[in-house]
Amino acid sequence: MRVRALWWEDDRLALIDQRLLPQRERILRLRTASEVARAIRTMQVRGAPAIGVAAAYGMALAARGGRSTPERAAQRLRSTRPTAYDLFVGVETVRAAWVAGNDPLAAAHEYRARVVEECRQIGLAGADLFRTRPNVLTHCNAGALATVEWGTALAPLRVAKERGADLFVYVDETRPLLQGARLTAWELRRERIPHAVIADNAAGHFLRTGAIDAVIVGADRIARNGDFANKIGTYEKAVVARENGIPFYVAAPWSTFDGSKADGSSIPVEERHGDEVLRMAGRRTAPVGSAARNPAFDVTPSRYVTAFVTPDGVLKPSGLARRLARTRRPEGTGHLGTTKAAKSSRRSR
Ligand code: MRU
Repeated sequence: MRVRALWWEDDRLALIDQRLLPQRERILRLRTASEVARAIRTMQVRGAPAIGVAAAYGMALAARGGRSTPERAAQRLRSTRPTAYDLFVGVETVRAAWVAGNDPLAAAHEYRARVVEECRQIGLAGADLFRTRPNVLTHCNAGALATVEWGTALAPLRVAKERGADLFVYVDETRPLLQGARLTAWELRRERIPHAVIADNAAGHFLRTGAIDAVIVGADRIARNGDFANKIGTYEKAVVARENGIPFYVAAPWSTFDGSKADGSSIPVEERHGDEVLRMAGRRTAPVGSAARNPAFDVTPSRYVTAFVTPDGVLKPSGLARRLARTRRPEGTGHLGTTKAAKSSRRSR
């Protein structure tokens, strides 16, 4: 069965506790917006599109609880993590429905369906990029766990495999929280896609020695000019890919595109607790007394991006800027533009 990161069940938000994978597959069942906020903050649910959908359901739970206001609930959920734009889109989509007197839960379901459909379209749009370039590097986890279903970076790989591509995926372990080693490898195993986990430090070696034909990653926020934030370490991979003439793709649904940012310079970068760096598998690895810096994301300039894989097709950074200029909406008011995926998710309801 395909991986799903979260779903609605018996009036609760059910999600896989991603902190425990791959050792344990525990399902959490959340009843309140505060529980959802805590799950996002502690990264029991993580990945930009997935936290957007979780937050949308958090808003719906707040509305059902009857003790919060749209503004208070939105403020609480928005304050959980700063970088992924999808979080703000998910919250705003349900807040607007609530304020307008529409059913917040229906708005959350609709938002979820739209994100899932957009990720499916990303898979269809990007799969053929890997037909002649089957040895692929990915960073962090941009699979179903990060997006509800399908994934962003992993969606084209899933479809490419279905279409018969002879894929091999190099999976950066992704220190400090090991989203690659723990989560991407877990998904690829379930999908029976051949892969190898590599130390983050090994990626440059494989990019330089011809082992890797293409790189694909997800994104947490993409500015109008195509600069984008993604998991810390992405920038290095993009620079080394360019140095070696290897195409570098970024896959994302429209909820990741922040039309209010002209470029990446003002994308907020989350800094997490130093213990994530100073400790490993629960044990301290650095000397007591050493400090740490722990930015969770970095921003890669768009000049390193070969193309964006979007629900509406594969777009060069120059084409993306034109596309966003046509469809820009005020911050947080929902997805940018009317996509093929949005039309088809409306039709299927
Ligand atoms: O800190 P995380 O695990 O939430 O970071 C996730 C990433 O950086 C992913 O690459 C990104 O959200 C894209 S997911 C489709």
